[in-house]
Amino acid sequence: MADLRSRCSISLHKILIVYYSRHGSVARMAEQISIGVDSNQACEAVLRCLPEVSANSEQREPSIPAQGVPYAQVSDLEDCAGLIIGSPGYFGNMAAPLKYFLDQTSPLWLGGSMIGKPGGVFTATSSQHGGQETVLTSMMLPLLHHGMLVTGIPYSEPALNQTSSGATPYGASHVAGQQGQPLSEHETAACRALGKRIADLSCRIA
Ligand SMILES: Cc1cc2nc3c(=O)[nH]c(=O)nc-3n(C[C@H](O)[C@H](O)[C@H](O)COP(=O)(O)O)c2cc1C
Repeated sequence: MADLRSRCSISLHKILIVYYSRHGSVARMAEQISIGVDSNQACEAVLRCLPEVSANSEQREPSIPAQGVPYAQVSDLEDCAGLIIGSPGYFGNMAAPLKYFLDQTSPLWLGGSMIGKPGGVFTATSSQHGGQETVLTSMMLPLLHHGMLVTGIPYSEPALNQTSSGATPYGASHVAGQQGQPLSEHETAACRALGKRIADLSCRIA
């Protein structure tokens, strides 16, 4: 749908979804969030992933991944109307590739490019009490420093009360287990609700 609207030259609000995913769970969440974004006819989800951080941090990955969506560039942030970032939970925090990407955004911070844009966060962990809330708040902190309007998911979304796995008021979440199990019905609903909420907010702000 977003492609069709783009081809019709309608100016859409770009909602950038930047994520790191080593084994695919966070990537599956990003796809559901993009469906939520695209449910707003005025918005277009733009998916971008992040490369591994190498042992030598200045050693760069090829600029185009072997498969899947393109890697995010810092410049992608400038013209987005909203930003949603996602990472697996690594010891209660975001994973290094997302932190490394965010640590390159100080020129945008100096220029105030992100001030007033809506922002949201999402994560997957292997265990239910493996630190999802702290991972989600760790990703909110840089967005707040950028002056973004950080939002979670309100309890008017039924999935938050019905879930027995992921989906939190701080953002979308998924309990992936040891084998990377599929998103539950409620986790999927929360992903879509987050995408739609950021999309709707970007329109109201504009
Ligand atoms: C270095 C490292 C630390 C991790 N720390 C935690 C943790 O503290 N709690 C948890 O539940 N899972 C933890 N995990 C598991 C990942 O969060 C989980 O496998 C996640 O679903 C991976 O997402 P992905 O499939 O998108 O890569 C850790 C994994 C790695 C590699």
